[in-house]
Amino acid sequence: MFARRIAVVGTGYVGLTTGACLASLGHRVVCADVDEIKVERLRQGQIGIREDGLAELVSEGVAAGRLSFIVGAAAALDELEREGVPVEVIFLCVPTPMGVGGIADLAAVEAVIEEVRDALPPNAVVVNKSTVPVGTADRTAELLERDDVAVVSNPEFLRESSAVNDFLHPDRIVVGSSSQDAAERVAALYARLGAPMVLTDAASSEMIKYAANCFLAMKLSYVNAVAELCERLDADVADVTEGIGYDRRIGQAFLSPGPGWGGSCLPKDTQALLQVADAADFEFRLLRATIDTNTRQYQRMVDKIRTAITGKRTGSLTRRRIALLGLTFKAGTDDLRSSPALGVAALLKQAGADLVAYDPGVLADEVLIEGSLMTVVDDPYLAAKDAEAIVILTEWPEFRTLDWSRLADAVAVPTVIDTRNLLDPDVLRRAAFAWVGIGRTMRG
Ligand code: UGA
Repeated sequence: MFARRIAVVGTGYVGLTTGACLASLGHRVVCADVDEIKVERLRQGQIGIREDGLAELVSEGVAAGRLSFIVGAAAALDELEREGVPVEVIFLCVPTPMGVGGIADLAAVEAVIEEVRDALPPNAVVVNKSTVPVGTADRTAELLERDDVAVVSNPEFLRESSAVNDFLHPDRIVVGSSSQDAAERVAALYARLGAPMVLTDAASSEMIKYAANCFLAMKLSYVNAVAELCERLDADVADVTEGIGYDRRIGQAFLSPGPGWGGSCLPKDTQALLQVADAADFEFRLLRATIDTNTRQYQRMVDKIRTAITGKRTGSLTRRRIALLGLTFKAGTDDLRSSPALGVAALLKQAGADLVAYDPGVLADEVLIEGSLMTVVDDPYLAAKDAEAIVILTEWPEFRTLDWSRLADAVAVPTVIDTRNLLDPDVLRRAAFAWVGIGRTMRG
């Protein structure tokens, strides 16, 4: 394999993982960001995000002279040029947040193109790794106005908290471009990974990313709906998902019911594909229902909590003290973006509840939810003090091994609403807690 000379623009979890992993595969990589403080910290080995194995890969890359950090995309190209061989591939890993009406906001992508347009050497390849609407590769090529520079779509499939592992052991690599030569050059960067390779046109590649994330969201909305039905029919969703998951066409993964799906990707990508479908005059009802089911899931969790605390679906939560365990959108991350836990917390707050939260990934302080503040403490036992219910909202494994007898002494009423089916109901019962899960019978 030839080592390539690569610039990666954007040092978020996608860009930093991409840069550090490509360096670990032997390529020379310069990572650029607009944030001077972030770049300075990265140079000192402070990676600023919680990602297993990433700090080690960054320091190995820097020590080997294959990885460096710089402010600005154009400066990254200059740095490679100064070393004697110009950049061959430039990866765009900048944010594409949800813009007006759910459409992906491409301002960051456009700004980078503007910055590097005239500095790119002939035959360079611009690779879009950010999740961008179908058609963005063509739009990027138009903005570039360079016949001698190809544009390639190469979506990432990295999960936060396991991004390095996902990069180095991918299920597949997807590369799309109207230039076969450019697509093959990008595919060759990953040759050592030995993953199945899908080479296609740019629009199909861009669509693969949306179709994958929307399918995952649909799977979760489906399982959350099945869990609801299990409750009504006195069936147990844990057995149901195990039973359907053995069917290889369905698979065991992504079948855990929860308080709803969230994070920085699934909500924005489902909205974006819905907008794209609307614009293409296609009524994507299945996707709309996937999103609506998720929004309703937050309310369903609140109904469940309300019933557990007051004994009635319509009981009042005003000034009822509730301890929330878990705020991040999933375990293993400190990311609160579009967290279902915060969605549920906001509804509880609106209903007048007094909330105190604890999350192993979130510093004790106050978190703003929908305009009002919620107290976050650094001790689960303190969070539980005098609570009328403990609500598990994120599946942090350490919650399983809390001292539940000590928690029983701390609370006012020993009730747990476990929106992740995380805890062992027998352990809870032995500690005198009433336990309510999702879609589970009390057989537990
Ligand atoms: C997601 C995709 O899984 C990645 O493949 C993709 O690359 C990434 O988005 C992206 O577009 O960049 P991520 O946002 O890190 O990754 O989160 P997931 O692990 O997919 O979890 C999403 C949500 O679903 C979380 O709120 C999680 O708690 C929930 N979830 C997941 C469940 O409720 N049950 C499950 O069984 C699995």
